[in-house]
This record gives sequence, structure tokens and C-alpha cells, in this order.
Amino acid sequence: MQTTVVQQPIARVEADALIVHHFSGAHRAGGATGDVDRALGGLITELAERGDLATDVGGVTPLFTRAGVAAPRVLVVGLGDPQRVDAEAVRRASGEAVRKARDLGARRVAIGALGSGIGGLTPSEAARATVEGARLGLYRYRATPAEALGDGDRGIDELLLVAPENDRVEAVGDGVRWGEATADGVELARDLVNLPPNVATPTHLAEVAEQLARDHGFAVTIGDRAWAEARGMGAFLAVAQGAGHEPRFIVLEHDPSRGKEAPLVLVGKGVTFDSGGVSIKGRAGMEAMKSDMAGGAAVLGAMRTLGRLRSPRRVIALVPATENMLDAHAYRPADVLTASNGLTIEVISTDAEGRLLLADALAYAQQLKPKAVVDLATLTGACVVALGRGTAAGRFANDDALAARVDAAAAATHERVWPLPLWPEYLDDLESDVADMKNSSGKPHGGAPVAAAFLQRFVDYPWVHLDIAGMAMRDDARGYHTKGATGFGVRLLVHWVTHA
Ligand code: BES
Ligand code: MN
Ligand code: ZN
Repeated sequence: MQTTVVQQPIARVEADALIVHHFSGAHRAGGATGDVDRALGGLITELAERGDLATDVGGVTPLFTRAGVAAPRVLVVGLGDPQRVDAEAVRRASGEAVRKARDLGARRVAIGALGSGIGGLTPSEAARATVEGARLGLYRYRATPAEALGDGDRGIDELLLVAPENDRVEAVGDGVRWGEATADGVELARDLVNLPPNVATPTHLAEVAEQLARDHGFAVTIGDRAWAEARGMGAFLAVAQGAGHEPRFIVLEHDPSRGKEAPLVLVGKGVTFDSGGVSIKGRAGMEAMKSDMAGGAAVLGAMRTLGRLRSPRRVIALVPATENMLDAHAYRPADVLTASNGLTIEVISTDAEGRLLLADALAYAQQLKPKAVVDLATLTGACVVALGRGTAAGRFANDDALAARVDAAAAATHERVWPLPLWPEYLDDLESDVADMKNSSGKPHGGAPVAAAFLQRFVDYPWVHLDIAGMAMRDDARGYHTKGATGFGVRLLVHWVTHA
């Protein structure tokens, strides 16, 4: 799908469908909506006055036009209360409207760009939100891995962003470029999570990282078992011990500073399938555990966007990738492991594997002398119990300034996070008789903060841990969200890095 900015009277734009916005309440149709309203002899105003328009955010009213406008149909999409409109409302409205246009068979769709001042958004921000919403709302899972980095068929060939005649096209074009780059990253993350676990293996993730390196000039290191052994990554390797697919430790670096800047490090849990290992999970719903690499996918997606945007920041992505399977070589409860920082870990549950691979990744990050580290992991079912599914990620932080920046990124992107505590008391339940720590308390309470307290022992820098267990997948399409993988975290990470 191609997105083009055009500057011409919207009523004359030739497209299969024309999308214009409308606020709720007694708001008069202005801008592009006003133009279309006049061209249709006041039809939109009349419908609004009668209360026949869906004006809540994302509500779509299709109008079939016989004359007045060049397009055969007009979709009026609600933006809700004009006092409360923000980038999120624009993304949601855009996603719903463009998907509706596709369902009606449109292949060439024009959408009115929002004039300056709406919701306090600049024309560039409004254009970005519009394009992000449209691209993400149209997302379709592309089943072959070769397609995953390509421009697959989304059912719409061309999106025309119709800018007001008096607006600066460059600003709108800039917003489009950001929106496209962002959508590219989120789509990659969604594709990787949606791919079946026999395809999205650690080697596949590594190949995607290598392709990103070629596309954007990143430095890439792919660590195999021997590489991890040489670095003493006994916790990561223990999880990989029973795996059929070979593990990969992915290091991807974008460094415009040529080594001068302390890096921002993104760490993503890359468990390509979590069976639980010897502490095997129940059979019901185990298929959902293909999404246990959603943190790693988000990190790779964010790198794609940052590469496309040519971000000036130095960023390093770490994705420890392995399956958590069980065979005669698999690690077992009671095993004692030594992580790369020398800490020993008594295994209580082989299903508490995420913290083991993250332990070695977070210790590796230490050697990179990071300015700050953010990790994303589908770490605990307990976090889903605490905060709900699709609501918010658990946010743990050892640094208030960094936490504030991550929270600001979460608010701006509506990739919500909610603070949970990092208190040393949570470590009490991990006291071991035979090692420095147990990997699980074996108790049914405080699962999310206990896991975070475990991770903190591998960290000595400003750090935020996001438990995204409830955020990786969803059951329905809504706004710019589609069913299946969400790509959660890509937009948050990009916002954080570009505002760091
Ligand atoms: N990958 C799971 C967590 C998970 C659960 C993600 C549900 C998405 C949805 C993780 O590896 C796990 O199994 N955690 C255990 C930890 C326990 C053994 C301490 C859990 O949450 O039960
Ligand atoms: Mn597990
Ligand atoms: Zn897991």
C-alpha cells in the first residue's frame, strides 16, 4: 500500500471511498468535512442534527453519494468530543474507517488530513496518527516468512491523505514518513508473533535481525550455543538444553555516534515456544505460548522503525532466543545454574524460564555500559491476573527519571503501563539453601514483582522492566488493533528512544 499526500479540493478527489471526520455534540462540520458537506448539499450537517451520525471515536457512517463528490461513497468517522480528541482518537478513528472502506471493497481510499490545532496536534502529528492508525488497522498476517519484511497485500492499494490547501505539505509528508516507519516496525513484530513456532524459531529471528542489519546498516552479532558457553551464560543455556531448535543470542546495534555515546539498550524475551519444560504446562491453551517471544519481536520491530527514521541515538537490541522444551537433556527442577555474572540459581520451576534468559541478557547489557536499559517480556501469568488482559503492562523501575520517560512514552502511544513495586522483600521468597537464589518461590502470590526482584539482581544501571504477558495477543479487531498479535511495545520503545 502506498500513501500519498495530495492537496486538492477533497470533493474532487477520485477514490473508491472518501473518509472525513466528525465530532460529537453540536459541532459544525469544518475543514474537509465542511467541504464534502457543502458538496453534498448539507447532508452531513442534516444527519448530524438528526442524531443519525455515529460520532463516538471510531464510529463509522457510510454515505452513498449520487452526485456532488467524485468518490462513489463517503465514510464519516467519529472523533468524539472535540475537547478530548488526541492522537489516540485519531489513530482509532483512522483504523476503523479504513478497515470499513476495505470491507466495502475500496482499493483506493482518500482521507481528509486534520487541520492544525485539532486536539492540540500539529499537522505532522495528526498525519502521523492517521497513517499509523490506517496501516495498523489494515494489518493482515502474512503467512510466509519471506513476506514478513515485504509489503504484503493489505486489501487497499493506495491511501491518499488530502491536506488542506493552506497547510504545509512538507509537515504532512513528514508525519506520513513517521507513520509509515512506525507501522513497518509494528507489522514486523505482529508478523513474528503470529508466525507458528515451527517457523519463528530462534534461527528465524536471527535471520530477521541479519536482514535488518543489511537494510539499515546495523552491526549484528548472532551468538550460538558455543558463543554463549564462552560467555558463561549458564542460565540462558539451561533453558536451551532441551530445545530441538538451536538457540540464538541476538545483538543488533544502531550506532550513528560511532561508539561515542553510551547506548540505550532494549532487551526482549525471545522464547519461541514455552511448553513449560519438565514443569510442563497444561494442554489447554498451550498454543498461545508461541507468543512468548513478543518482547523480542517488539525489540526487533522497534529497531526497524528506528533504522527507517535514521534515529540519531545509539541503540543496542538484545534478544536471547530459545524454545523452552523438554527432552532427556532438558534442565530440571533442582538443577543449579551459574549465570554469566557468577550468581548461582536453583531451579524450582523450568516454567520460570524467561527470567533465566533475561538474567544473562541483563548481565550482558552491563558490559555495554548502558545509559539505560528497558526490557520487555511476557514474563508472568500473575501480571495478567493483576492488571488484566489488554489493559496495561506491569512497569518496574529502579530509576525515577527513566520511569517518568517510559511512562510518558506509554501515555503518548497509548501503550499503557502501570507501576508495580520493586521491593527487596520480594527476594525473601527466593532464598535458596543451595544457591544464591531460587528461580521461583513456588508460592501463588506476588508472581510479577517476585520475577522483577529476581531480574534486578542482574542489573546495575537505570532500568525499566515491562511485563507484557497480558499485552501480546488479543481476541478481536478494534480501532487500529487487529486480532492476534498486537506488536505491543514497538511504538512505546520508539517514542522513548526518539525522546531520550
Ligand atoms: N511465558 C510464561 C508467562 C505467560 C503466561 C505469558 C501467560 C503469557 C501468558 C512464563 O514463562 C511462565 O510460565 N511463568 C510462570 C512463572 C511461574 C512458574 C513462577 C507463570 O506465570 O505461571
Ligand atoms: Mn514459562
Ligand atoms: Zn515463558
